[in-house]
Amino acid sequence: MSTTIREIRPEDYDAINAFWRNIEGVEIDDSENKQGFDFFLGRNKGMSFLALDHDKIIGTCLASHNGRCGFLNHLAVAQNHRRQGTGKMLVQKCSEILRTEGIKKIYIFLSKENIEAEAFWEHIGWFQYDKYFVMIKEVDINL
Ligand SMILES: CC(C)(COP(=O)(O)OP(=O)(O)OC[C@H]1O[C@@H](n2cnc3c(N)ncnc32)[C@H](O)[C@@H]1OP(=O)(O)O)[C@@H](O)C(=O)NCCC(=O)NCCS
Repeated sequence: MSTTIREIRPEDYDAINAFWRNIEGVEIDDSENKQGFDFFLGRNKGMSFLALDHDKIIGTCLASHNGRCGFLNHLAVAQNHRRQGTGKMLVQKCSEILRTEGIKKIYIFLSKENIEAEAFWEHIGWFQYDKYFVMIKEVDINL
């Protein structure tokens, strides 16, 4: 097996979308259409990566920042390629890029039910930040 890592490009959308739909633990909402994907990559150029086994996508990690802190989304590795260092490699690659952008703190949002992924993040040195909890509001015309 030969795993390579490269930047995610807009034209990867169809293949990545199909890949995500097969991964339990990756939550895709309605905003994640082609337009949303291009918008995200355009605002966060060169920060998101995929892993390939030859030409086949076996992993992804999206990274972004707002000038103050960074975020990782949609870290996923194909079931039959897990436990071979790919997830960690993608997290390291994205973290490295964020660091070169001057970002010192990175957040992830993880479902409370995703015990497996929680164990992975803890194993690679991340920790739960119980000082805050997440609040959310849909921004519509009734601000
Ligand atoms: C979480 C996920 C990305 C991990 O990918 P992976 O390629 O299997 O992880 P790696 O092989 O890079 O693991 C890195 C280290 O974490 C350990 N690890 C991986 N999964 C683990 C788990 N479930 N529990 C404990 N340790 C784990 C590995 O053994 C390895 O340890 P080492 O560095 O001491 O050898 C993968 O399980 C996945 O795609 N899960 C489904 C999608 C998901 O839930 N994503 C998270 C969204 S936030």
